[in-house]
Amino acid sequence: MCGIVGYVGKRTAQNVLLNGLKRLEYRGYDSAGIATLDDNNRPHIARSIGKIAELENVLLTKPHDGHLGIGHTRWATHGGVTVTNAHPHHVGNIYLVHNGIIENYKELKEKLSKYNFQSDTDTEVFAALIDSNYKDGISLKDAVAKAAKQVRGTYGIAVFSPNEPNTLIVARLGSPLIIGLGQNETIIASDASALLGYTREAIYLNDGELAVCTDKGAEVFNLNLKHLNANHETIDGNVEQIQKGGYQHFLLKEIMEQATTLHNTLSGRIDPKLGKMHLGGPNLTEEEMRNIKHIVIVGCGTAYYAGLLASYYMEQLVPDLTIEVVIASEYRYRSFHLPKDSVALIVSQSGETADTLACLREIKKRGIKTLGIVNVVGSTIAREVDGGTYVHAGPEISVASTKAFTAQVVTMVMFAGMLAEYHSGNAELISKITKELSELPKEIETTLKKHHDEVKALAKKYAKYNDALYLGRDTAYPIALEGALKLKEISYIHAEGYASGELKHGPIALVDETFFEVFSIIDNWLFDKSIGGLHEVRARGGKTIVLTNSDAEIDADDIIRINSKIKILAPLLLNTLQQLFAYYIAVDRGNDVDQPRNLAKSVTVE
Ligand code: G6P
Repeated sequence: MCGIVGYVGKRTAQNVLLNGLKRLEYRGYDSAGIATLDDNNRPHIARSIGKIAELENVLLTKPHDGHLGIGHTRWATHGGVTVTNAHPHHVGNIYLVHNGIIENYKELKEKLSKYNFQSDTDTEVFAALIDSNYKDGISLKDAVAKAAKQVRGTYGIAVFSPNEPNTLIVARLGSPLIIGLGQNETIIASDASALLGYTREAIYLNDGELAVCTDKGAEVFNLNLKHLNANHETIDGNVEQIQKGGYQHFLLKEIMEQATTLHNTLSGRIDPKLGKMHLGGPNLTEEEMRNIKHIVIVGCGTAYYAGLLASYYMEQLVPDLTIEVVIASEYRYRSFHLPKDSVALIVSQSGETADTLACLREIKKRGIKTLGIVNVVGSTIAREVDGGTYVHAGPEISVASTKAFTAQVVTMVMFAGMLAEYHSGNAELISKITKELSELPKEIETTLKKHHDEVKALAKKYAKYNDALYLGRDTAYPIALEGALKLKEISYIHAEGYASGELKHGPIALVDETFFEVFSIIDNWLFDKSIGGLHEVRARGGKTIVLTNSDAEIDADDIIRINSKIKILAPLLLNTLQQLFAYYIAVDRGNDVDQPRNLAKSVTVE
């Protein structure tokens, strides 16, 4: 969702800010803006709706050499997508960008009635609040701290005032802020990708902290203005990882690089010879591992489906375990009870999803141990869980999640494989899965290469349809859900995922020649039942596509057969083809593949 970048230092702020905003584009936004102070201490604001390229056009007419500024990409929450609602907001002596939501903004707005508010945003009220505190000789830092205590809600903010021309104040509560410390420059952002190439040294601000940033570095305080000793950490990643690397879209790159990223996910964590899986991060004692009897897996969107697929494997691997997979936005408000011998797996690519984070906090309140299955290093969820494992998929830029899904499933399978050892798990199965995991990167690579053109042609054939059903049983069921999600996210085709066994309970009524159906069929003991569902659809005129690892005769309009030694984990291979299929349909329909309409990569508000 919204992104923040700020700069103070030796470079031209305008350029650094624009570059930073481009790096944050992937998060999803509908307007953008920057405010800078020029070398004569005059403020300049430029804002525009639409893409950063629009903002760049506006700035071309007003270039200047200031060395301090703030920038923002906005994903509208309060007020429509207009230039007036775009950030930065300027009130009195204050220039402010803000991520998050101020819940008591209406109350505050009434109290601040002397201000002539221009926009419909909560952020403008926050700016006015800071401005109203910024008087009687108190510093900007003190004014921000005071305002931060007066607001209710969440915020990540960056503020400057022409009165203190070399200072940028940042603060956070529930919305990330990272301070990059360079040589005579400080660059701040809501996302580490904006800092890559400038510096690797950073301070990750914690909730309830603010920092005074200058070109000499940053000093961190709590809201009572007590000076804090902040940890300096090293930022992961490099600039190449956040570039398209010759691909037309990030999405295609991220689908195609799964062999490499999965190799990183697995590295040092499996031993196929001994048939063992081991993760260091959970940080659980042998006794704690033995005591786990119940697992709850929490996530949103693709992360939820990754949890669902992993749960099928986990219950096979660990016989005495009960597993529940829950949607974070629902679970956070339920009166849920978890037995003491539970562990919660908190699954999130970004590590910032508001609902998932809220669940984590609710679960912790109940005294249950939480483990993160997170991709973004240093993210809020990664910092708040009791332990956990990074999935090491590398930066995922395209809004639709692909490589992170594969990495999340595999990481949870490894966790279960490790747990199984303490629960008299099925040794043969552990060994088979470990072997398959070791072969999976290569098999993904082969599958994607071998079937690329076939999938592309298939996408062309089905791109004009408006409705689709995705169907599967057992481990192919979560894949059906994920396949439908991918298609609707990027192609805007109405698509629903169903367990094939549910066909007769409703969705079959939809089937006619205007729908197409994607069946993922795994060559296992449920094969015949899956084929039964396929026949039922064909008998009613549905256009059927089958993705399968079986070589049995199958009657369908189109079939893609993968021939792989991967059997148990075959759904992951079929899923990569679904990803590619959705990608090519979206391209064919001329959509903005990497930044689909209305969606955001990191959903930091409820
Ligand atoms: C958004 C993204 C999805 C993602 C979901 C959960 O909806 O567009 O791709 O699956 O959030 O995100 P997380 O970062 O928690 O995995």
